[in-house]
Order: sequence, then structure tokens, then C-alpha cells
Amino acid sequence: MSQNPLPAKRLRCEYLTKPLGIISDSPRFSWVPEHPRRGAKQVAYQVIVSSERDFSEKETGDQWDSGRVDSERTTGARHSGLPLRSGKRYFWRVRWWDQWEGVSPWSDIAFFEMGLLHDRDWKAKWISRREPPQFESKGQEVLGDYSGESVQSPGLYFRKEFSAGNDVKKARAYVCGLGYYEIRLNGRKVGDYVLDPAQTDYKKIALYSVYDVTDLIQEKNAVAVILGNGRHINNYGYGQPRLIVQIELELENESFERVISDETWKASSGPLLENGIYFGERYDARLAQPDWDCPGFDDSAWEKAVEVKGTILSPQLLPPIRVTETLSPVRLVGPVPGVSVCDFGQNFSGWVRLRAQGPRGTEIKLRHGELLHPDGTLNVLPNQNAKATDVFILKGIGEEVYEPRFTYHGFRYVEITGYPGELTPDKIEGCLVHSDVETTGDFTCSNSLLNRIHSNVVWSQLSNLMSIPTDCPQRDERHGWLGDAHLSAEEAIFNFDMAAFYTKYLEDIRLAQKEDGSLPDVVPPYLEKLYPADPAWGIAYLELAWLMYLYYEDMRIIGRHYASMKKYVDYLSKNSEKNIIRKLGKYGDWCPPASVAPTKTPLELTSTWCYFRAVMLLSAFAKIVDRNDDVRSYSRLAEEIKNSFNREFLGEDQYAANRISPVDKSPNQTSNVLPLYLDMVPREKKERVMERLLSSIIKEWNYHLDTGIIGTKYLLDVLTASGHGNAAYKIVNQKTYPGWGYMVEEGATTLWERWENLTGGGMNSHNHIMLGSVDAWFYRSLAGLECKNAGWSRMHVKPPLFTDLTEASAKVTTIRGDAAVAWAKKDSCFELAVRIPIGSEAEVYVPLLWDSVQVKEGGQVIWRDEPTDQMPGEVSFLRKEGRYAVFSVGSGAYSFVAERV
Ligand code: BGC
Repeated sequence: MSQNPLPAKRLRCEYLTKPLGIISDSPRFSWVPEHPRRGAKQVAYQVIVSSERDFSEKETGDQWDSGRVDSERTTGARHSGLPLRSGKRYFWRVRWWDQWEGVSPWSDIAFFEMGLLHDRDWKAKWISRREPPQFESKGQEVLGDYSGESVQSPGLYFRKEFSAGNDVKKARAYVCGLGYYEIRLNGRKVGDYVLDPAQTDYKKIALYSVYDVTDLIQEKNAVAVILGNGRHINNYGYGQPRLIVQIELELENESFERVISDETWKASSGPLLENGIYFGERYDARLAQPDWDCPGFDDSAWEKAVEVKGTILSPQLLPPIRVTETLSPVRLVGPVPGVSVCDFGQNFSGWVRLRAQGPRGTEIKLRHGELLHPDGTLNVLPNQNAKATDVFILKGIGEEVYEPRFTYHGFRYVEITGYPGELTPDKIEGCLVHSDVETTGDFTCSNSLLNRIHSNVVWSQLSNLMSIPTDCPQRDERHGWLGDAHLSAEEAIFNFDMAAFYTKYLEDIRLAQKEDGSLPDVVPPYLEKLYPADPAWGIAYLELAWLMYLYYEDMRIIGRHYASMKKYVDYLSKNSEKNIIRKLGKYGDWCPPASVAPTKTPLELTSTWCYFRAVMLLSAFAKIVDRNDDVRSYSRLAEEIKNSFNREFLGEDQYAANRISPVDKSPNQTSNVLPLYLDMVPREKKERVMERLLSSIIKEWNYHLDTGIIGTKYLLDVLTASGHGNAAYKIVNQKTYPGWGYMVEEGATTLWERWENLTGGGMNSHNHIMLGSVDAWFYRSLAGLECKNAGWSRMHVKPPLFTDLTEASAKVTTIRGDAAVAWAKKDSCFELAVRIPIGSEAEVYVPLLWDSVQVKEGGQVIWRDEPTDQMPGEVSFLRKEGRYAVFSVGSGAYSFVAERV
């Protein structure tokens, strides 16, 4: 077999595969090198960017040729060639050199296409329909505060015809329709995005999508758009839906033609009578005008569209929302005559696609819910004000298929009434809908309860990726609560490629910042009253930036947001009194057992702890962006906050345990977990604080947690790092209240908002992601795969000694390539298979489970109670650490076996 480097794979531009709509003048490239030999390193690379595919095929970078660049980096290589042109597609490929001077063949050709770079490139106008009739629906209630009725528009329909010659070489549609749109060309839906565009604060920015429509263009064309309300509603101060479309045609003779939205478009109402995220849709198929979206339709009865005010446009550079999977009913029953209830066996976000045939005017109603009442009827109480009801009225011709467009629901059960004839399972499909992030992680182990918890986390995570990270998909919230977002982010990054998603979200956060530096609890800031944020929510800004750096080695993001993050930290400083934050806390250690608000952990404690953490993160960022003065001043500030924190909250042997009277007798878990996690506890008290924490967990709670969402995130890590992994393991294995296993025992298929199994209204979502951090612990501490340096350049592989698991494995597609571990504990041997991507180094911890152990790697004995001198290539002995022999390895696959001798 050849020992030369293999072509690089996973070519990405700005984290995306072949993106359309890049606007950066120096877009970044990343790739994953592959090599048949272990220990390979990239020592140099060459990227070429070509203006034509031909050039790329001939390996000519007429646009940019980086030449050989001596660098180990496989991410963040910036284009620095000729200026990039609006709307143009560029082709790129890469080759790389290993440390043995082998060079890889050129990679396959990838491309990126520029968006509309300048305001002047936009010729289209924003349009809407003149005063469409409005309808009223129930508004939303957030934290007990009702926003009033919501006045919204029916579906708005637009159309325009145009001709094109048969010499169209390339056609693109640039589209933004607020809140949501569906664009159609010649009778067909363009693309497969749904609930597009991604949510933003439309006063500041709106995102446009780019579609390659070359194959849809004919001689005579009709472009048609339906607009829905989405988040672009009066209640948030945005007004009625509006739209901008620009279709660019490039002809064989290199000339251009353009179709733009303007007052020559026609507007009308249509069959979509009502639509809203929370309440659902009402669609009357009798009102459909046949072929309204095809050329030749008579639109003389339609109104003229009107020009309306616009918004700054930016391309949408994150995975779109799609229907990613369909689910079949696992049960279909009729609890009462005329009512069918379908169970999908899984709580999820999306909607139902229904087929029906029946008399004209038949009204079919679908109501969605997470739960059933004991009598088998639908329980919609957790939906609160969200009506979550889709109504479909048949036109009465043949079999009709209906699925909603501009709403989504969080549900496991759907109740169907009014269905004509016999309803059978094959007529019902559940459509799973979320931001279509790539799955990059996989975890499994020999404990089925933990696998079930992992699955519940993954389902909740997907249900809460709707172009922003949401709290829940079912009730009248579904907002970008920052607390929920950062507490679940690490787990999300293990499971999915979140790089582009969080890049966009960090931009949303930056735009939401006020002049005084404050941030809101909810981003996009649709709810003005949620300024200023609880620091445990606001800190998401720095936490997400940190995770982008740690997991994707993204330094540009730190540079881009540094000034705003600093402004936020300074805002916290301004709102502190002698380094303690007393006023900003609102939620703190939210949703501990038996409560919504924290009953034990003082708000001042969580707020001040977050302040300390934010200052620490900022000083780390200052180092990355070379602001040495800031490194010094913020490190000093961190030290001061730590001292004040201890003075304020630390008693004899534990931290403040009661919200009202700061130091109580019985210990509180979160209060002690947080300072232990950040190593804030004075050395002489550390052991006693740890003991108090353990006494709460063991004596008071019999190995259960007593933490809200903040404490929960750090509890397991604190226990594991301090040698009490067995306590952490017992906690996650509990099947009794409170814990994740209790949810599973009670039949949960997603995570709940509360530790309690509640079935009424109020704060009671059954699909919330904020307790999902446990899954990151599974990857790091059970499979044992831990990222230690930015972009996984250094990692640990450390199977735990504290479990009764016989097997665990995890695979993560990191920014550098696949990292994987699979271990199995047998009677007299321990097998450990490891895969390390190129550009990474790992410390592999091989457990020494017996008094006398022999370790082999690839069949060669490397340890017999001490290291042998037989190390195979790329393995070297580092040290013995407790009951582990620790080896250092480079890239490639390794198989260790530790045998009892
Ligand atoms: C949301 C939470 C959110 C919280 C803020 C709730 O209504 O559902 O997940 O973080 O409010 O306290």
C-alpha cells in the first residue's frame, strides 16, 4: 500500500459545503487530511481558487494560489487572492504535505459562490400587499406576563411572469420573505427549505437565501411566493409580512437579465386563511386558484403589490430548516367516537402530513399535544396559549395531501377529527422539522438507561434548533433563551456540526446588545422587556464564543466579538457593588427539584459566579487577540471577584445555602458546585466544601441531584474531576426522582423542563433542552473522549474506572476529522480502540484493572507492570497515573489490549 498522503476530504468554506451567498472578502477554508500511516502531520498546504471549473481541473489557481504554506492548520485558511466578485462561483481545492515530504494528490473540487456583495447589487424592492385583512389570535404569555392578542395577516400570495430565452446558462434566485416564505417557480416549490429564512431581529437584519434555479427556468415563467407571519408580527413591532426577490439570469453570451420584486408584481389572498407559529394553520383548499403559480394564469383580478420599507440584508449562512425525517404512527386509536388519536411514539418538532379524500368542504382538524389524559384523550395543557391546531378544508377532488407551511408544533400525539371515511395509519406521517445540522457525534454504551437518556437529549436538541436555539417547541414561547442555549451548547457540539449555526447566533447576540452593553435574556430580542439579562443568561455570549474557539479553533470569531464581549463584561462591572452582582439576577439556578425559581441558591451567588466566569473568559480571549493590557487587568479583576465572592458567600465549610438567609446549616449543591468547578475555593477549605457537597448528595439526597439548570451543568464534572466519578455515575443511573433516569422511567422520549412529571399547564414543557448537558459528560467521562486544546489539537482518551459499564464508544467528527474511542471490559482483558485525526495528539489512558497487567498495542507488548522498550511507531509511554498507564499517540488508529497476567 502506498504510504503517501491521501487527498483531503470534508472541504468546507465558512463551515459549509459548497455554500451559495458568501460575502466575506476573505472566506475561510477547512479540510480534513487523510493518511495511511500513523502519526502523520500536515506540515504544509496549498490552496488554489479558480474562476472556472476548467482551471481547477487543470490545477491552476487563477484567482488565488496560496503556494506552499508551511502550516499545520487545516482550518481557517483565508482566501487572499484577487477580489471576489458579486454572485460569482469559485472553485477550490487543496493539497498537503506530510512531515516525510510526501504530498497528497489534489482534493476533489469544491466551490463557493459569492452572494450579492454591495447594496447596489440589490435592484429588487421590498413589497407587500396593501392592507390585507387581518385576523386575531391568542397572544403569548412569557413568565406569567400575557402579551395581548396577536393580530396577524392571512397567507399573502404574490406572482409575476417573465420570459427568458433558451440561452440561460445560470439562474439564481435571491429571496427573503418575512416572517416565512415559500417560493415557487413554474408550479414547483423551489428548494427544500422550510420555515425560511432563519429568525433574526428584522429591524436590524434579515437573511436571504440563494437558490440555484437554472434547471427550473423555461421560456415563459411564473415566479410565485406565499408569505406567512412567522416572527414578523405586530406584537414584536414588525408589521405585516414583506418580501424581496431578485432572480439573476446569466446568458450564454455572458450578458445578464434580472427579474425583481416591485410594484409590477400582483398580490392576492389565497387558501391559507390563517397561519401562526403558535396557533397553527387554517387552509381552505376550495380557495386554491389552480395554476396560480404557473405562466399563463389570469391574474387580472389580483391587486398590485405595494413597495414597503426594507431591512438590511445578509446571506443566510447556516444549515436551513428542512423536513429531515418522517415518522409513522406507532398507534392509532379512537378514545371517543369521531376522534382519532395517533401516537408517534416520540416527542418531536414538526407537523403532520395527511392524506384524505372526501366531500368538498369537509373540515379536518389536527390538534397536537405532548401528553394524553388518563382516558386516552389529548392533553394540550403544556401548550399553554399555543393552540397548535391545523385545520384543513377539502376541495373534494381526488386524494388531497396537506401539510402546513408556516407553523410547527412540539408533540408526540395528534388528535384528528372530521376525517372523512376510515383513517388508517398509512394516511398519516409525522414530519420531523429542525435546522438541518449534520450529525457529527455518536455515543453508545452497555447501559440501556444511559443510551435512552442520550437519545432523549438528541431528540430534544434537534427539536430546539429552529434557526436559533429555542427553549421548547410546543408552547407559546420557543424563544432563544440564552441560558438554555449555552447550557446545552457543548452537548450540541458533540452531537452536531454547530459551527455555522452558532456563528450566526453570535451575530444575533451582538446585534441585540444595547449601547450600555446590556444583553437581553432572549435573542433575537423579540421581547423588549427582557433587558437586561440575568447574568447566567447573558454569559451565553462568552460561553458560545469560547466553545467555538475550543471545539472549532475559531479565532476570527473571538476577534469579531471581542469588543462587544468586553462591553458586556464592563456592563456587569458597572452593575456590581464591591464585585458582587446584587441586582441583575432573575432566574439563577432555575428549575431545581420541586420549584421553578431557585429556592436555595441565592441569585447573587449565581450572578456573581457568572460575572467571575465572564471575566476569566474575557481574559482568555484577550490573550487570543493579543491584548496584553486586558489580559492583565481582567486577570486582576477576576482575582478580586473571587475574593469578594468567598467573603460574601463562603461560611465555615460551605457556600451560602439559602436564598433568604445566606448561610444555612444544610448544604446546597449548586452553591458549592459552582465555586468548586472554577477552582475558587481557598485551598484550606476545599476538602471540607467537597465533603459538604457529598453529604448533600449522599446523605440528604441518596445519590440524587438537588440542582437547577446551572448547578446541573457542572455537578457531574466537579464530582468526576475530584475523584468522585462513582457518585456522578450513581446520579445519572437513578431511576427515581429527581433525575434523567426518572424521566425515562416515566416514559419520556425527550427531556423535560422540570424534574417533576407534571401534566398540567404552567411551566411544564416535556421537550426542553436546558438539562441536556449530561450528554457532554457521557462523551467526555463515560466514553472518555475529551478535547483539551483548541480544535481538538490535543485530546484525552480516558475510559472511566468508576462505572459498571462493560462497553462504551463514541465517535466525533471534529474539525480535524474523526476522533473515536471504543472500549470493552472483559473477564481478563480490557480492549481500547482509538482513532485520532491528523493534526491531533492524544494522551491515551489504559486502565490497569488487575494487580499484574500486560498491555499490547497492535499485538506488541508495551507494558508489563512497567513500560517495555518495544514501543510501536507513534506510541510513547508518558507516565503511570493512579490505575492508568498513560501513552501519547499521534494520528491514526490504535488498538490497545490490557490483559491480566
Ligand atoms: C423558558 C426557559 C427560560 C426561562 C427563563 C422559561 O419560560 O422556557 O427555558 O430559560 O423561561 O427563566
